[in-house]
Amino acid sequence: MEPVFPTETLESAIRIDSHLDGAEGRSLAEDVLDGLTRPFKELPPKHFYDARGAQLFDQICELPEYYPTRCERTILSERAKELAELTGAVELVELGSGTAAKTRVLLDALSAAGTLERYVPVDVTESMVRESAETLTAEYPGLQVHGVIGDFERHLEQVPPAIGPRIVAFLGGTIGNFPPGSRRRFLRQIAGLLGEHDHLLMGTDLVKDPRVLEAAYDDSQGVTAEFNRNVLHVLNRELGADFDPDDFEHVALFDTEHEWIEMRLRARRELSAHLSGLDLPVHFDAGEELRTEISAKFTPERLEGDLAAAGLELSRWLTDPEGLFALTLSARRPL
Ligand code: SAH
Ligand code: TRP
Repeated sequence: MEPVFPTETLESAIRIDSHLDGAEGRSLAEDVLDGLTRPFKELPPKHFYDARGAQLFDQICELPEYYPTRCERTILSERAKELAELTGAVELVELGSGTAAKTRVLLDALSAAGTLERYVPVDVTESMVRESAETLTAEYPGLQVHGVIGDFERHLEQVPPAIGPRIVAFLGGTIGNFPPGSRRRFLRQIAGLLGEHDHLLMGTDLVKDPRVLEAAYDDSQGVTAEFNRNVLHVLNRELGADFDPDDFEHVALFDTEHEWIEMRLRARRELSAHLSGLDLPVHFDAGEELRTEISAKFTPERLEGDLAAAGLELSRWLTDPEGLFALTLSARRPL
């Protein structure tokens, strides 16, 4: 007899929906047409994360200077049991799930509490959603994984309906990558995923000494610099551009007025590039900068204001012993 049974069980535990329908190519082209023709050049950060970008980001998370991952993992390890009890969650929906490394701490706690049924990772990077579905169903017997490959800014309505109390996790401080206006709009969309008995679990990096912040985004090994320049490799490959990434210097600055880190690529010399896919010439003066990301840092007041604007209310504010990073649990404000 063929031992088909285990394979079938494994396959039926996984469902993956992809919403990447070519619109991603269009969205990159539109973002480039919009962002590289402005007087102050700018690109949105989601284009960093091709397979190479995802790998570089993983390396960033291991860097001594990049404290957010370590701090968030510490908080999760210490408080996951309490979070599992408080929420009684049967499912975990994770936005920008990546390799789901820290997620395991939560899945362990929900599994130990005996409530865990389903994990719903949502990410633009197809390989990460597929790989985490495979490994997690193998690691957690009985776990259903319903992966959603897509852009969380456009495809949140593709998240399947809740099967019971749910936690929507948005970790890593990724919320800080939205500028303030769209941040509140996005939080409101997330709130739409929450029913009366559901919770948002969100990681936010906190305002602190600018030297600590700038080191976290400009490490001594140059991994973050390479990650930043990766967006140029993406433009070369996807839009037939002819940038030499080495013509650009990585810049990370803490903007004390807005309290966010700005990541930029600064042209080391005057240069012209051509994007053949768009038939678009692009010119940089020597020293001209392209803004590739902001990473907003929070105070409790800023976070509470943003949550309130999205109809949400804080129920737990958890930090690491040094107070560098916060993990918060919030829920819909009762009507
Ligand atoms: N949650 C992980 C990874 C954070 S990095 C952690 O805390 O370490 C940000 C993740 O969000 C990446 O995996 C990236 O692919 C994903 N991402 C970025 N922009 C996205 C978008 N617009 N839609 C969906 N996923 C996105
Ligand atoms: N969300 C992460 C953050 O803002 C992503 C990140 C870390 C990042 N380092 C980066 C994004 C460098 C672009 C460049 O902390």
